[in-house]
Amino acid sequence: MMQQFVKLVTLLVGLLGLVTALVGVVGFVVFLSYSGVQLPALSEKEESIPQAIAEIPVVTALADPAEMWRAPDWATVEAEPNAADIKYGKELVANTSEYLGPKGKVKAISNGMNCQNCHLQAGTVPLGNNYGAVFSTYPKMRARSGTEEDIQKRINDCFERSLNGQPLARDSKEMVAMVAYINWLGKDVPKGETPKGSGIYEVPLLDRAADPAKGKLVYENQCQSCHAADGQGMPKPDGTGYLYPPLWGKNSYNHGAGLYRLSRFAGYVRANMPLGASFENPILTDEEAWDVAAFVNSMERPGKDLSKDWPDISKKPMDHPFGPFADEFTEEQHKFGPFKPIQEAKAKSK
Ligand code: HEC
Ligand code: HEC
Repeated sequence: MMQQFVKLVTLLVGLLGLVTALVGVVGFVVFLSYSGVQLPALSEKEESIPQAIAEIPVVTALADPAEMWRAPDWATVEAEPNAADIKYGKELVANTSEYLGPKGKVKAISNGMNCQNCHLQAGTVPLGNNYGAVFSTYPKMRARSGTEEDIQKRINDCFERSLNGQPLARDSKEMVAMVAYINWLGKDVPKGETPKGSGIYEVPLLDRAADPAKGKLVYENQCQSCHAADGQGMPKPDGTGYLYPPLWGKNSYNHGAGLYRLSRFAGYVRANMPLGASFENPILTDEEAWDVAAFVNSMERPGKDLSKDWPDISKKPMDHPFGPFADEFTEEQHKFGPFKPIQEAKAKSK
């Protein structure tokens, strides 16, 4: 009897010891994993993970959200004396094709794209090519035309280049409405100022030329599912515009458009594409943005007579890809880079 009792007690004590030890070990492991201490590899397996995975670059926010320009509250439009114009203007920016595209119900003067395909959410998104700095900085001298341009002229530039179409009459109801909307968006920005987050993100320059072959891979992996293998996007079934806009081909922007410059394209996609990316949660790296820009802008698209552009050739931006130039660099280098030597030469000549 006594012997059996001693055995039981010994067993219980032993069990208790075991449980305590187990809890200790588990607790220690949990502590280690939360404290960030690296546990040693369990086997050789770790070494067989391909390099590529280990080298995925970290993509972080492009700017501090607190400092970004934001559009005025849409609910306050009603209080404006020209509220009807402002609202029609926003509608035209968002659904341009429905009114002014190939089957436009007002007039057929553009290619089926919407302003908002490139000026996201009707030109209100920080670093989404927004209109935050338009009212505050126009009219202004622009080197592309060599003249002073007002907002009407700038809007028509995008009609004739980005939408590969015809200009709107300056006194048309549509032009008045778009100007009213754009002016309203920028009304709180002090005259002359360019707020943070307006326009397009400036992607840091690479030390090499952008590479269309690498860009093709980015395109296949990150863009093709929406913009299609042939770059023609996805038209709406009724032909009034696009679900996914085209990136090249006859219905895309022409050679004179802003996006045809590599830095504009790279900056736009770096902060906004693939769809769902934002300056706070970008998806592409700098290199991927430059390379996919090089690929897309190597494809066929409509031309435009640019002989009147850049009357002072020394004012051409580094990535305007058509000569003659004021420097020694080739059209090839002005198109794909490397851009740093071009910028340095420009700085020296000043
Ligand atoms: C294919 C893309 C695309 C489309 C479509 C497009 N734009 Fe643009 N737009 C641009 C680019 C690129 C710029 C130059 C941005 C820069 O360099 O910072 C620009 C610039 C502008 C500017 C001057 C912005 C500034 O701060 O100086 C205005 C105004 C403008 N667009 C209006 C329009 C309107 C209105 C439409 C529709 C009729 C339109 N855009 C359609 C790409 C586009
Ligand atoms: C999930 C679908 C989707 C994916 C993936 C995607 N896009 Fe887009 N893209 C869109 C849509 C939709 C728009 C128009 C946005 C709007 O109207 O609000 C757009 C607009 C654009 C525009 C401006 C309009 C034009 O047609 O010129 C460019 C440039 C662009 N995307 C490039 C890219 C690139 C480069 C990639 C890959 C890195 C990419 N997109 C991936 C859906 C997508």
